[in-house]
Amino acid sequence: MIVLGSTSEVAQAFVEKALQEGEKYERIYLFTSNREATERFAQHIDVKFLQQSEIIELDLTKEINYFSFDHINSNLLFCATGYLGDGTEEGLYDNKNTERIIDINYSKLVPVINYFAQKFEGKRSGTIIGLSSVAGDRGRQSNFIYGSAKAAFTAYLSGLRNYLFEKKVHVLTVKPGFMATKMTEGLPLNPKLTATPKQAADCIYKAFKKQKNIAYVLPIWGVIMLIIRNIPEFIFKKLKL
Ligand SMILES: NC(=O)c1ccc[n+]([C@@H]2O[C@H](COP(=O)([O-])OP(=O)(O)OC[C@H]3O[C@@H](n4cnc5c(N)ncnc54)[C@H](OP(=O)(O)O)[C@@H]3O)[C@@H](O)[C@H]2O)c1
Repeated sequence: MIVLGSTSEVAQAFVEKALQEGEKYERIYLFTSNREATERFAQHIDVKFLQQSEIIELDLTKEINYFSFDHINSNLLFCATGYLGDGTEEGLYDNKNTERIIDINYSKLVPVINYFAQKFEGKRSGTIIGLSSVAGDRGRQSNFIYGSAKAAFTAYLSGLRNYLFEKKVHVLTVKPGFMATKMTEGLPLNPKLTATPKQAADCIYKAFKKQKNIAYVLPIWGVIMLIIRNIPEFIFKKLKL
């Protein structure tokens, strides 16, 4: 299994869920921009599941060395990479913040997924699971730079799914609502609409096994976003969402 964004608690809960369910992986490739934190997780799965893993450094704000990915052979890619950035008015007009949000959520991430998509295509097998966001379903005044990068990522995953369908590679787009993770630490989230990393991982694993195309975490977000997407623009533009 290839994991992008290995320090994400959702990514780690998904790895644990898959191993608990008895899935077998020759090796788990843990891509991370934080080696130290990922080493702890690698040791944990080694001790608990006797699972071999390898840590590969990947910081999307830096130059990427694709040669170091050459040896990787896998059938499953789980991408939890994401960056919320500063969604305040100050952040909106800070070009560094804007570029970082777009780079990590979309422009620097897509070539990495494409690299593995091509490998999967060559083998005519595999699944790519990408964590996008409900924020990409419709641009709202709160943090729409992040939302627009996620919208682009959702469109990319949709196109990739369509392109790879005949090549026997499946693409699952995951659209989380709120999840209680380090990304949302300190934010006032409605507990009824917020998934724990374990709940999110269970939901994603179920969607993966059912070969779903799109999955909302939690399913209630599918209903919420259906309503939000259908509010006429002349009303929507006046709302404080
Ligand atoms: N939490 C929510 O409410 C929520 C809602 C909707 C969508 N999402 C999406 O769900 C996914 C998982 O999010 P999460 O809540 O688990 O947040 P998270 O803990 O912040 O996970 C995102 C991961 O992205 C990786 N990342 C960040 N900057 C990077 C960089 N410069 N280069 C390479 N990797 C980088 C980090 O992994 P490493 O440290 O291992 O590099 C980080 O753990 C993300 O795509 C997020 O956008 C989250």
